[in-house]
Amino acid sequence: MVQLACKNLSVGYEGKEILHNINFSINQGDYLCIVGENGSGKSTLMKTILGLHSPMSGKIITENGLASTKIGYLPQQTVVQRDFPASVKEIVISGCQSRCGFRPFYNRAEKQLAISNMKKMGIENLASRCYRELSGGQQQRVLLARALCATQKMLLLDEPVAGLDPKVTEEMYEIISSLSKNDGITIIMITHDVRAALKYATHILHIGDDVFFGTKNQYLCHKFGKEYQSKGMIDNG
Ligand SMILES: Nc1ncnc2c1ncn2[C@@H]1O[C@H](COP(=O)(O)OP(=O)(O)OP(=O)(O)O)[C@@H](O)[C@H]1O
Ligand SMILES: [Mg+2]
Repeated sequence: MVQLACKNLSVGYEGKEILHNINFSINQGDYLCIVGENGSGKSTLMKTILGLHSPMSGKIITENGLASTKIGYLPQQTVVQRDFPASVKEIVISGCQSRCGFRPFYNRAEKQLAISNMKKMGIENLASRCYRELSGGQQQRVLLARALCATQKMLLLDEPVAGLDPKVTEEMYEIISSLSKNDGITIIMITHDVRAALKYATHILHIGDDVFFGTKNQYLCHKFGKEYQSKGMIDNG
C-alpha cells in the first residue's frame, strides 16, 4: 500500500525552482535512498515532504492518515547544532513535541517512550550527559532516538553517517537496517554513499539534471547505476 507519493512536485526558494516535476511513491516498509550531488536539492526535497517548506507546485500525498508531524526526522547536521548545550534526555524527549500539542509538559508515557528509544539505541547510560560533549557517532544515535519518539512508521534521515568513521558508519547503517527489517519502519535516507544505498535500499531516487526513481535492480541497469559500477571497477583496479 502506498504510504507516501510525490506527484509532479517542484521545490525551490523565492520563486527559483531547484527540482522540477519529481514523481515517486513508496510503500510501507520500503527503504528509499536519495542520492545526488551537493546542492542538487536533496535536503530541500526532504524538508518539503515534512511540510517545513512549501512546494512550488505539485502534491505530496500520504496514505493511512500519516501526518507529516508523525514522521521522524534526523536533520543534516551543522557545526552549530553539534555544539548544542542540552542533555541527551532533553534532546531525545523533544522528539515527542508534536504529540504534546498545546500541553506544556511531557507525560509519563512520553518519558517512557524516550527511555525505551534511548535503550534501543544503546545510549541510556548517556542520558544525563551534555550532547555537545559526545562523539559524532553518539550524537547521531541521540538524534535517531529523538526521531523515533515522533514515529513508529516513517523515518527521514538526512545524511545520518556524515563525518563518522567507517566502523561507526557501519554500526549506524545496521541500526537503521534493523529499524526497517525488524520494526517495519519505512526509511527515506539521503546519502552520498552509493555503495551503502545499493546494499541497504529497496529503492533509489537519484536527483540532479536527470532524475531517476526505481528499484535497486532497475538502478543497476540504468546509466547512473552502470556509471557507478564502472567507476567502482576502475577504483578497485
Ligand atoms: N533557505 C534557503 N534559501 C535559499 N536557497 C537555499 C536555502 N537552502 C538551500 N538553498 C539552495 O538550494 C539548493 C539546494 O540545497 P540543498 O541543501 O537542498 O542541497 P543538497 O542536495 O541537500 O546538498 P548537500 O549534499 O550539500 O547537502 C542550493 O543551491 C542551496 O544553496
Ligand atoms: Mg543536504
